[in-house]
Amino acid sequence: MKTKKREHRSASLAESQPAVPVRRTLAQDLFDGIAPSYDTWAQVLTFFQYLRWREFLVSRMDLRPGNLVLDVCTGTAGVALEIADHHDGQIVGLDVSHLMLEAGLRAVEKQSLDGRVQLVQGRAEHLPFPDETFDAVVFTYLLRYVQDPDATIRELSRVLKPGGKLLSLEFGIPEALWMRAIWELYNRVVMPVMTIPVSRGWHRVGCFLGPSISGFCHRCPVERLAAIWRENGIPLVETRRLLHGVAIVMWGTKQR
Ligand SMILES: C[S@@+](CC[C@H](N)C(=O)[O-])C[C@H]1O[C@@H](n2cnc3c(N)ncnc32)[C@H](O)[C@@H]1O
Repeated sequence: MKTKKREHRSASLAESQPAVPVRRTLAQDLFDGIAPSYDTWAQVLTFFQYLRWREFLVSRMDLRPGNLVLDVCTGTAGVALEIADHHDGQIVGLDVSHLMLEAGLRAVEKQSLDGRVQLVQGRAEHLPFPDETFDAVVFTYLLRYVQDPDATIRELSRVLKPGGKLLSLEFGIPEALWMRAIWELYNRVVMPVMTIPVSRGWHRVGCFLGPSISGFCHRCPVERLAAIWRENGIPLVETRRLLHGVAIVMWGTKQR
């Protein structure tokens, strides 16, 4: 019985593989290298805020029984499992990293949620789903990895039903000067150094994150992101800055 279940889950990953281009992405390189220890170190490196931010994101969802949700950048399926914990309905988790998804499958299996959470490999930029499929689409820490945030948000909105909710969680930069100074020190110095003994993969992430977040937030501040959401059918975008703006949650409903 157990073996049969495993075969079924492996098949669900393999079936979606043609959606992934042959050329590996930066995200695959980064996240394949840290997948087995992702959940632990993501918590430690954010001073145990990571789960709290995720909980706040999921608390903004208002799903009804039978709703279908897409969790983009599901990684180790943490957001998908949090949704399954608080709402009825079916969840599809999509991610580009095969090894993150394998860790996700183990987590789904551990909680016996394989009947409600399905994981597929694919890219947010080219979602393998028809128009207006999902009642809610949620994405986390995605936009720094895509070349064209406008086109990616258009793609996410495409698969969302009219009246459905789009939600996101991304890192931000604190506005208050004192917090900004701590943030700069932590991201530019402390994290690169403290990840050295963890592993080569985590050190790479530790060096990458600060410049990646700064670069993205300057190119695409929250006001610009909200404008992109509006251009793609979500007229009213709500925003909450968490921990003085270190994380930013956005949500809004697609017009009917
Ligand atoms: C920081 S992790 C977040 C994982 C999970 N959502 C969480 O909150 O724990 C970001 C994830 O985004 C995935 N990712 C990055 N770019 C992607 C893309 N273009 N399409 C799909 N997944 C992507 C990575 O593989 C990684 O698993």
